[in-house]
Amino acid sequence: LRQKYLDAIAGAADEASLEDLRVQAVGKKGEVALKMRELGKMTPEERLVVGPKLNALKDEINSALAAKKAGLADKALDERLRTEWLDVTLPGRGRREGTIHPVSQVTEEVAAIFADMGFTVAEGPQIENDWYNFDALNIPPHHPARQEFDTFYMHRAADDDRPPHVLRTHTSPVQIREMEKTGAPIRVIAPGRVYRSDYDQTHTPMFHQIEGMAIGKDISMANLKWVLEEFFAAFFEIDGIKTRFRASHFPFTEPSAEVDIQCSWVDGQLRIGEGDDWMEVLGSGMMHPKVLQAGGVDPDKWQGFAFGMGIDRIAMLKYGIPDLRAFFDSDLRWLRHYGFSA
Ligand code: PHE
Repeated sequence: LRQKYLDAIAGAADEASLEDLRVQAVGKKGEVALKMRELGKMTPEERLVVGPKLNALKDEINSALAAKKAGLADKALDERLRTEWLDVTLPGRGRREGTIHPVSQVTEEVAAIFADMGFTVAEGPQIENDWYNFDALNIPPHHPARQEFDTFYMHRAADDDRPPHVLRTHTSPVQIREMEKTGAPIRVIAPGRVYRSDYDQTHTPMFHQIEGMAIGKDISMANLKWVLEEFFAAFFEIDGIKTRFRASHFPFTEPSAEVDIQCSWVDGQLRIGEGDDWMEVLGSGMMHPKVLQAGGVDPDKWQGFAFGMGIDRIAMLKYGIPDLRAFFDSDLRWLRHYGFSA
């Protein structure tokens, strides 16, 4: 019995056949266990002789099994070391990191500059009703400005005659929402997505604006001009950048001004902050009394300025990007070209 198992163990090819042998030999119903059971039929004298022998046999088989098992494991490891190897001198596979989209990055820059001047950041819904997008901003139902906005209207059921919701055409509705929320005095900017049905090199149906609003006892156009000049100097990193306020018209401001910044074209290249050309960057003005009223702010006690600026537009100017549509194409080569991606 002893030799039979020791030979078998020595010849076992893998751990599975070793396990089979273990069960056969020293398992609960194995050959050694059967022999142990026969001890009961023996005389005490016989038992004294055979018992210890069987125990010794069991120990011997167990240690032979353990030794063989260790040997097989070593062999398996050697085999793996021989077949599985890694050339650590090969160059690694590169992985590109994700980055912040230029529009998000510029929005954060703008917010940080206005934060230094005491403006907090607010947000409003992109799906608006026409009260906030138009009426409250002094654009009544048949006002021509409604046409000028190329508004996207949301569908309503045929039997629902309430006015449709709209995709907001500008961030100005946030003026009303913020006045309702906090009342005066107030100093806030509101960046976000806006929508107009328009598409060419400088227009996409979705784009980004940043609204600014400051209401106080004696806020004036002079404050507006200072705040905007501070902003442009910081954003374009050009001290003393010149601005030009052109008389204009918006239903929600009186007086109204469109604001240009100084620029020039050299060999077809735009240069901001030098020369004697002008580039339009935003609309602004003193908040119309009806707008203050619509937001629950008493126009006899308070006055304020507001402005609305295209975020994508100033990003194009700052980074010399010619086509607005590229912002929303998600082309990594484009992002990399302008240094926005690793
Ligand atoms: N909402 C205007 C637009 O989208 C911009 C603007 C905002 C003008 C605030 C004046 C005051 O064109």
